[in-house]
Amino acid sequence: MPDLADRVAIVTGGSRGIGRAIVHRLREEGARVASFDVIPPDPGEPFDAPDLHVDCDVTDGAAVAAATVRVAEQLGAPATILVNNAGVNAYADAATMGDEEWDAFFALDLKACWLTARAALPQMRAAGRGAIVNVSSIHATLTQRGRFPYAAAKAGIVGLTRSLALDEGPNGIRANAVCPGLIDTQLAREGFARDGGHVTVEQLASDQPVGRVGRPLDVAHTVAFLASDEKAGFVNGASIAVDGGVGARLS
Ligand SMILES: NC(=O)c1ccc[n+]([C@@H]2O[C@H](COP(=O)([O-])OP(=O)(O)OC[C@H]3O[C@@H](n4cnc5c(N)ncnc54)[C@H](O)[C@@H]3O)[C@@H](O)[C@H]2O)c1
Repeated sequence: MPDLADRVAIVTGGSRGIGRAIVHRLREEGARVASFDVIPPDPGEPFDAPDLHVDCDVTDGAAVAAATVRVAEQLGAPATILVNNAGVNAYADAATMGDEEWDAFFALDLKACWLTARAALPQMRAAGRGAIVNVSSIHATLTQRGRFPYAAAKAGIVGLTRSLALDEGPNGIRANAVCPGLIDTQLAREGFARDGGHVTVEQLASDQPVGRVGRPLDVAHTVAFLASDEKAGFVNGASIAVDGGVGARLS
């Protein structure tokens, strides 16, 4: 029997990129998967579309709560797997960043991880099981110039994950984070285009310890592992780097 048979999962930002690969891997493991996203599933992606796409801005707590109820109604059971993947990059200047820009960024890259957990935890507790996987970043521990305040939000996700792991572990719910390095997605390519296109994803491959940049499936495989009670039942509160070894390098 597939690892996640009879499980229902929610993936935020599952229409493209890393989230879409996560949708695909969880479906391969037998889960029925809903995606909460503000764009429809991208038909150009090579991966499975979600079983249910919900047009949901995950920064809106009421919309997230309603979408979580809809998942249970339409996929036949409450979600006991939650993957918080939706996020954006940041390139602000701490001296000029506005309050609204800060709030909007943190609403998506940090607060949304709590909003979705708030909506899903009661049903996970009732089921006596659950797996939450939060997509953080290598920027939780190492960062670059000009990326303010991305590192703060991604480090916040690691802290939020640890709190959930301790508080919810006794309820049968595990919480873990994955910290990707450079993964070839639209988000990453837009980031390099923003820098004037001087650096491309292809050029950066030679700078990676494994000789290539990451692929969405690299992250999705780790998420599928963490979602599995059988394989990862004793993994709780962890942050797992999926960065090709960049985080191991001194300079
Ligand atoms: N690509 C990388 O190199 C990289 C590295 C480390 C971490 N990450 C993290 O991985 C996650 C996914 O990144 P990606 O590269 O696949 O990005 P992407 O832009 O390709 O995909 C992000 C998805 O999130 C959705 N989304 C954006 N705002 C949303 C909102 N308010 N509500 C619901 N959905 C929303 C988008 O529509 C899109 O489908 C992000 O959290 C990102 O910070 C990416």
